[in-house]
Amino acid sequence: MTGNEKTAGAVMPRWIPLVGGILSSTTCGALLYAWSVFIKPLNAEFGWSRADIATAFAIACLVFGLMTYPAGRLSDKYGPRIVVLVGGIILGIGFVLSGYIQTKAELYLTYGVVAGFGGGLVYLPPIATAPKWWPERRALATGFAVVGLGLGSFIMGPLATYIIENAGWRYVFIYVGIAMGIIAVASSFSLSVPPAGWRPAGWTPPVEKGQDPSRERRDYTFQETVKTLQFWLLYIAYFCGSFAGLMVIGHIAGHGTDQGLTPMKAAFASSCLAIMNAATRVISGYIADRLGIKITFTGVFILQVAAMALLYPSGQSYIALWAVAAVIGWNYGAMFTMFPATCLQYFGPTAQGSNYGLLFTAWGLAGFAGPYVGGWLKDSTGTYYMPFIVGAAVVAVSAVIVALVKAPEKKHV
Ligand code: 2OP
Repeated sequence: MTGNEKTAGAVMPRWIPLVGGILSSTTCGALLYAWSVFIKPLNAEFGWSRADIATAFAIACLVFGLMTYPAGRLSDKYGPRIVVLVGGIILGIGFVLSGYIQTKAELYLTYGVVAGFGGGLVYLPPIATAPKWWPERRALATGFAVVGLGLGSFIMGPLATYIIENAGWRYVFIYVGIAMGIIAVASSFSLSVPPAGWRPAGWTPPVEKGQDPSRERRDYTFQETVKTLQFWLLYIAYFCGSFAGLMVIGHIAGHGTDQGLTPMKAAFASSCLAIMNAATRVISGYIADRLGIKITFTGVFILQVAAMALLYPSGQSYIALWAVAAVIGWNYGAMFTMFPATCLQYFGPTAQGSNYGLLFTAWGLAGFAGPYVGGWLKDSTGTYYMPFIVGAAVVAVSAVIVALVKAPEKKHV
């Protein structure tokens, strides 16, 4: 990428929205993917069960996921800056208030509802904005806008552990909440959309195969997008891929200890998953811009079916479990680059905030259902064999969809 081009009608170098995307998505990573650090201290202080504490996370996923739809609509209408700014303030307030809770209901409200609400507002607009500045590297730019989900969990894990040991869990919420709010608000100022018709100097959009270059084309509106079969097929594929991935994220360490691994070795499987979940977001974007989004995406899902099917037997050897966890993290994280990039490719950039905002609600529903169904299947059958096989079958649906679905016809003026 060359990031030094100034834009027509704007003074912002176009790498700035990418930096804003990295920073704002880091706050979302700290919100969501390091939740497990709170399980022990909350259990020790209040005696709440794992299921009770996990419910806070499930509520946060649901609210976060459902908020991306209004966040995208508002971002298309009023611009990304104001949405991220307001979201950052709400996210910070929700997290700080979680440091003062005394009851489960208060935790569900402050962390699950308020912080989840703010997080959804912060997450979506940079995803819709960054690729508009990088039309020739859309998947890669999208990857930068979501890579912070991995970075945030990396930073938050050890940081939260340090604060818990030295000051107590309440201070994690308070200090990190303040930092999240400041970072998200600061990053909002980096977000603006390029003027209509803007393109990088020297770049002309490639002519697609079979397209008559003399005919003018326009993007889908949101109303047109939701009337296409393709959109709803992508929705099912997103739900299925997220369902399986979130089921594994919630249970992989438990699976390792069930199979006789030490807690340390089992926990490292989660770290392998997290590392690859971060790395893939940028690397798979880079690959997709070169090989094509569809082929990269189909490959990712086929690999995920195989990895899910191997997850249960891999638990007998820690090396095998780490390797399979890494592959699952890679494929899971790639979805957050590939789905927005596919949505953009199919329906165009104009209503990307609304289109992808709605598509992403599939993740919110899966975040609620996946870990719960995984736990229920494990409790009913006694092992993780059934949950992981069901996960493989569910991801196979995503693989079939992305392999077969075709971009809709472009609209003509
Ligand atoms: C992501 O990881 C929030 O799950 C979503 O990008």
